[in-house]
Amino acid sequence: MTEPTRLRPGDARAHGPTVADTLRQDRYPPPAPLLEQCYAFLGDAPIPVSRYTSREFFDREMRQMWSRAWQWACRLEHIPDIGDRYVYDIGPYSIIVVRSGEGDISAYHNTCTHRGTRLLDSEGSGYGQAITCPFHGWSWHLDGSIRNIPGRWDFPHACEATHSLRPVRCETWGGFVFVNLDPAARPLTESLDVLPEHFSHFPLEQRRIKLHVQKKLPANWKAAQEAFMEAYHNFETHDAPNGGNAQYDIFGKYVSRFIHNIGTYSPQSLDDYPGEKWRQPTLSEEELLGILAVFGVQRSNVPEGESARDIAAGDLRRSLGERLGIDLSDASESMLLDSIEYHLFPNMFLFPGLGVPMVYRFRPDGERVDQCIFDLLIMEPMPEGQEHPEPPEPVHLEVDDSYTEVQELRWLGPVYDEDTGNLALQQRGLASGAIEGITLGNYQEARIRRMHLTLDEFLSASEAGND
Ligand code: FES
Ligand SMILES: [Fe+2]
Repeated sequence: MTEPTRLRPGDARAHGPTVADTLRQDRYPPPAPLLEQCYAFLGDAPIPVSRYTSREFFDREMRQMWSRAWQWACRLEHIPDIGDRYVYDIGPYSIIVVRSGEGDISAYHNTCTHRGTRLLDSEGSGYGQAITCPFHGWSWHLDGSIRNIPGRWDFPHACEATHSLRPVRCETWGGFVFVNLDPAARPLTESLDVLPEHFSHFPLEQRRIKLHVQKKLPANWKAAQEAFMEAYHNFETHDAPNGGNAQYDIFGKYVSRFIHNIGTYSPQSLDDYPGEKWRQPTLSEEELLGILAVFGVQRSNVPEGESARDIAAGDLRRSLGERLGIDLSDASESMLLDSIEYHLFPNMFLFPGLGVPMVYRFRPDGERVDQCIFDLLIMEPMPEGQEHPEPPEPVHLEVDDSYTEVQELRWLGPVYDEDTGNLALQQRGLASGAIEGITLGNYQEARIRRMHLTLDEFLSASEAGND
């Protein structure tokens, strides 16, 4: 293997065709954002292991980042009617998002202003025309104003100004409701970087939740999500012959992306990964098409002059379009097949592609440093003008449960088991104290570094402030 000595750090790339090469060769032009490339070297210093293991660091994240960062709490279709509400928990904090009027959404701390009781017990959907505390029965209207204080004669000192529900900032984008616990937070749009522009090509408002799986994972929330921020693990973890040529983009402090071509195969890139597993003859186009059968591709022969990617995309253009009831006749190969993954700081992943249309969210499990909650949603496009169906209840999986228990995940079940199967090992290795910092690839793992740099900004801005 030759060392790329003449290149500056971050300039080296895997051998073989790039994502841009593949997209340019596709027969159907991709949406413009997929042709953008945006990467800059962000440094190569180790990331301290204590960020994944230390209680003190976890507490700083809670106090200074989670309490100040925009994060999505639910979808609009979770609260379509007045009185619908959704409870979202993050660490010690809990927020009630409520449909308070026809076009109004409000959010409040899920805490009684009398003696502090948590108002609504469990996370998730609910309904009520008032919010009532289970302890002494204080209640509030949907706009957060006081509805009733039993034995009011004893509380002349409690009034709207002092005892309304404590409001939480809330804004919407793409059919998602975002909340921010910081009353002085900058508007959500400032954290969305390129997302509104890019996703004008992939409207998320017009997607429905087909499946929601919520699993506990045995690792710090950052380690867990970092396992989904690179395709570098594909060779070893998934035993897959591609991933080395994925494209990584960093669009700003908050948004990054990878594009990983599916249905292509680059023998050259395997030279970069001289492991045992993929020292084998080149895959034929027919064999590649065989791999794409997981998408429901029916055909198995690849005529002269065509590629597995062409055939699979053509098949999906018809079959997926029919199943979803939408016109996909112009959909590009990339939109139909590729794994296209945007990350929005701190913890949201959005996949605009149609073959793998997911949304992820990672967050700490309560106040556990070494365990987190992974929400996995499959979000399919819907025909224009159609009303959102009621979202499915989440399927809950514990740490030791397998994704293969969820039938609807089909071929993705074993893939998620592979993705999450390393996490307990990684967390144990980190906790051993044997290394002080983790090492990141300059290109393939740059999104992870970006996330830590933005986290640092939250931590240091708050420290300089009035903490
Ligand atoms: S603590 Fe809520 S009504 Fe008393
Ligand atoms: Fe993976």
